[in-house]
Amino acid sequence: MLRVGMLTSGGDCQSLNATMRGIGKALFNYYGDKVEIIGFLDGYKGLMHNEYKELKAKDFSGILDEGGTILGTSRQPFKMMRVVEDGFDKVAAMKQTYKDHKLDCLCVLGGNGSQKTSALLKEEGLNVIGLPKTIDNDLWGTDMTFGFQSAVNIATDAIDCIHTTAASHSRVFIIEIMGHKVGQLPLHAGIAGGADIILLPEIPYDIEIVAKAIKKREEEGKHFTIIAMAEGALSKEDAKLKKKELEKRRVKTPASYDLANRILELTGQEVRVTVPGHTQRGGRPCPYDRVLSTRLGAAAAQLIIKGKYGYLVGVHNNEMVPVPLEDVAGKLKTVDPKCSMIKEAKLLGISFGDE
Ligand code: F6P
Repeated sequence: MLRVGMLTSGGDCQSLNATMRGIGKALFNYYGDKVEIIGFLDGYKGLMHNEYKELKAKDFSGILDEGGTILGTSRQPFKMMRVVEDGFDKVAAMKQTYKDHKLDCLCVLGGNGSQKTSALLKEEGLNVIGLPKTIDNDLWGTDMTFGFQSAVNIATDAIDCIHTTAASHSRVFIIEIMGHKVGQLPLHAGIAGGADIILLPEIPYDIEIVAKAIKKREEEGKHFTIIAMAEGALSKEDAKLKKKELEKRRVKTPASYDLANRILELTGQEVRVTVPGHTQRGGRPCPYDRVLSTRLGAAAAQLIIKGKYGYLVGVHNNEMVPVPLEDVAGKLKTVDPKCSMIKEAKLLGISFGDE
């Protein structure tokens, strides 16, 4: 009997269920009744406290297009790297649960922080397979994460809707797009939504240049401007601040409202801010993500069949490839300011607030 554990960790996204379905269907199809799947509840918490449900073949049916996660999730447990908390050793507890269930392996569907924990569990001797989840697409070792394309669709829809009202009212609109400290999501949604200005964490912006781009549009008879702004975007001045100082400033005025105030000061134009927020992580996965998740799930099952553990299933040139978890842990896949996508966008006249 093969015994496989499964958990979803970190912020949710649209294609978690589709990925678990991919793994589950492939394993039940291959092993029949010679496999048992244990789903741990609410991420690593379930593994720590032995809260779980057994997942039968029927549990993987009808969830391909269901958003969220049938297992629940929570943020990964070592944000502050506190392995022992109030006398409770988290790693020891997870190892014990793994042992008690006599698991052959554990599949972790998670992003950066969660895969860091996967690598740690691998180091502790557990058989782990990582699956690349996050709307941010900032996980090192894979071209693509599941959830990203669905989020791009939603953020693009938000920009599309804002376009018409911005044009009617001749307003400047800032659409704040998720992505944490990385600009992949705002860059893609900004281009897909035809934004005039795209502001990313990787390219600190100069407010004078942003104002100039808005004024130039005005002079050209374009009385509205769409700004796709990453939630982690920074002005050149803010980029110089220490983390604590920046946090203090952000509590007073979130980045997008700060930018709105400065634009009003410098251009006199009416500015509005729209924050699609967690809608970007919600709802059904898009067809791209359903296909990607199905393939990732099958590739994870393939690794289990071969007994090949300790890898993240990554995507390279549209192929599913195993990447050692220790290579992935602790790294971010940021946007290269010199990448061809940015050069192409600049050629079209899109401003990134830097030149
Ligand atoms: O990592 C996914 C993400 O949605 C980021 O884009 C965002 O910064 C963060 O999670 C929001 O986290 P929370 O749901 O905890 O507010």
